[in-house]
Amino acid sequence: MKLVVAPGVTHWPGYLDASAQSELVAALREIARAAPFFVPRMPGTGKPFSVRMTNCGALGWVSDERGYRYQPAHPQTGQPWPAMPPILMQAWRELSGYPHPPEACLVNFYEASARMGLHQDRDEQDFEAPVLSLSLGDTALFRIGGTQRGGRTVSLKLASGDALSFGGAARLAYHGIDRILAGSSALLPQGGRLNLTLRRVTPPPQLP
Ligand code: SIN
Ligand code: FE2
Repeated sequence: MKLVVAPGVTHWPGYLDASAQSELVAALREIARAAPFFVPRMPGTGKPFSVRMTNCGALGWVSDERGYRYQPAHPQTGQPWPAMPPILMQAWRELSGYPHPPEACLVNFYEASARMGLHQDRDEQDFEAPVLSLSLGDTALFRIGGTQRGGRTVSLKLASGDALSFGGAARLAYHGIDRILAGSSALLPQGGRLNLTLRRVTPPPQLP
């Protein structure tokens, strides 16, 4: 089932079935072994985020005192990010509607008290591709609005296995996580929520 939440915002409840969710959790365990979760910090102030992050793919999104950016290596280990597992490439092919592969997958881990304030995803050089999100574990209350701060927003629940994309007119929509519904899923033994966002960062290669 596919739900159009707003122009450019599409929700696929239960896109990943139980076995695909377990497969993805196993892949993320491997990724986190090679690229441990780190605590991002706000540019300028250095205030820690309440979510922990890691990445896979050629580029990873990081945030610290120096700003937000994509970089090819983990900020602590200095190692390249692990490859994107095939199940993520498949989700991108099936749902993104974009002909070139994703370059970055940001993995956010939310414990029960974590939140993410309303923000735009705008550190990419190219906004032609949508941002594609996959959720695992506890359900989150997700909020998305328009491209201006302070406009009307809609809230929806993102449950384990759900996919959501925002692109086109909604590519620069403000969005965030108001709260996590602790105990709503048994997928992750310690509870909490994993969210993966797949992004295209650079413009596609030009034909000669
Ligand atoms: C994000 O905006 O980076 C994460 C959104 C989510 O956790 O669903
Ligand atoms: Fe975001």
